[in-house]
Amino acid sequence: MERGWLHGEGFLLCLILHLLLQGRADINCSGFDQHGVDPAAFQAVFDRKAFRPVINYSIPTHVNISFTLSAILEVNAQLQLMTSFLWLNVIWYNPFIRWNPEECGGISKLSIATENLWLPDIFINEFMDVDQTPTGLMAYVTSEGQIRYDKPMKVTSICNLDIFYFPFDEQNCTLSFTSFLYTVENMVLGMEKEVQEISNISQNLIQNKGEWILLDIHQSTTKMTVDNSQYDQITFYVAIRRRPFLYIINLLVPSSFLMVIDALSFFLPAESENRAPFKMTLLLGYNVFLLMMNDLLPDTGTPLISVYFALCLSLMVLSLLETVFITYLLHLVTTQPPPMPRWLYSLLLHCTSPRERCLTAPQKGNKGLRLTPIQLPGLKEPMELVGKVPGPREAELNGLRESTRTRQEDEAQKQHLVSLWVQFSYMMDALLFRLYLLFMVTSIITVMVLWST
Ligand SMILES: *[C@@H]1O[C@H](CO)[C@@H](O)[C@H](O)[C@H]1NC(C)=O
Ligand SMILES: *[C@@H]1O[C@H](CO)[C@@H](O)[C@H](O)[C@H]1NC(C)=O
Ligand SMILES: *[C@@H]1O[C@H](CO)[C@@H](O)[C@H](O)[C@H]1NC(C)=O
Ligand SMILES: *[C@@H]1O[C@H](CO)[C@@H](O)[C@H](O)[C@H]1NC(C)=O
Ligand SMILES: *[C@@H]1O[C@H](CO)[C@@H](O)[C@H](O)[C@H]1NC(C)=O
Repeated sequence: MERGWLHGEGFLLCLILHLLLQGRADINCSGFDQHGVDPAAFQAVFDRKAFRPVINYSIPTHVNISFTLSAILEVNAQLQLMTSFLWLNVIWYNPFIRWNPEECGGISKLSIATENLWLPDIFINEFMDVDQTPTGLMAYVTSEGQIRYDKPMKVTSICNLDIFYFPFDEQNCTLSFTSFLYTVENMVLGMEKEVQEISNISQNLIQNKGEWILLDIHQSTTKMTVDNSQYDQITFYVAIRRRPFLYIINLLVPSSFLMVIDALSFFLPAESENRAPFKMTLLLGYNVFLLMMNDLLPDTGTPLISVYFALCLSLMVLSLLETVFITYLLHLVTTQPPPMPRWLYSLLLHCTSPRERCLTAPQKGNKGLRLTPIQLPGLKEPMELVGKVPGPREAELNGLRESTRTRQEDEAQKQHLVSLWVQFSYMMDALLFRLYLLFMVTSIITVMVLWST
């Protein structure tokens, strides 16, 4: 009798203690081993789904999150949007769900349709689209009351994109997970996995897909304050880098080829009539190339590559202008050579090759704009002739001869002047070509240095 009373008291104490410790009743799963899950057993939990599942409302719900970035679908520089695909994992405890697996046919984990459960309203701050999460998803519930809810998400998030270094650009986009409604007093966010693990798994998934490489994911936990309410927030920094291969092949290589051909076209003889049309064709080809490649370029901002293209275009225009100038100069000096300024003449003597200098060295001392060395041998001859044959007829003949000679002298003089001018034109051409090369090399090096930093 006494013993029985003690036993009964002990049982009652145990039960009270148990209830106090657990703070709730277990799910009655009698018959689970014969008839499967009885929906009636969970009805009480399902009925409470409108409310946050806690026993004491002053205790916040701890929600752990994690995600796997499975693809980076698009990065839109014009709208400043990154579209990615991720699998979100949300884990929390529901204290009203609990059963003893041994009593319940060995069931330790159940899947329950999410529409029957309270779900934390985790969303991404940068989200700029309607949530296209499929409906009718399931969640895993363990016998301990841990609920694991995984959902696929197509995330179109706003991201501050800097396309200056396109196509060698890296972007740093943020994904901030927070509760839409619950403040810190009601919901606390935590990490389900180490961020390094998230990063590793995502890197392995994205590795060989698409235009972007996932470099790293960093994480920071902050509190967001809106109107005196604090919201718990976990921010992930997703660092991505563009694969530049497509752009190198499609943009940089053809452009560089055209530039090289343009530079080589300086070796076409300046007096040939083909040079200007050739450069014109190149310029036209370059414009067509730019038009066709326009949709590969970002729509907004001024990336360095646009500057590079503009530079290439201006170099081509400059080279065409140079050809026009040289052609004009050659035409001018061969038809009506203007008198050559003395400084230019001296300069020519200085600048020409040693062989040329030897040839023209004696003329150095001559004054006046017209070149006298050619006059000298011409002048000597008539004097000799005049001394030998006098007479009116001879004089007449002489005069005629003289005029022919002067004409010849003039011709020779003019010829020499022309050859000097032509020489000057060639030197000008060579000089401008070097300047062009210098400009090209410096600008290309500048662009390369900017790209590599
Ligand atoms: C569990 O449910 C069965 C019927 O489904 C009932 O007979 C039994 O008394 C219940 N047990 C408890 C502890 O409520
Ligand atoms: C709820 O929790 C708070 C703080 O932990 C405590 O002060 C309060 O007494 C609890 N309420 C009940 C009904 O247990
Ligand atoms: C969330 O993570 C923390 C620390 O990693 C852990 O102590 C806690 O049990 C987790 N909560 C859930 C619901 O998994
Ligand atoms: C991530 O991968 C690196 C090497 O790829 C490895 O050293 C590191 O331990 C991994 N970290 C985790 C958390 O798996
Ligand atoms: C991304 O930006 C955040 C904050 O602006 C910074 O803390 C983080 O280091 C950046 N990550 C990378 C890879 O640059």
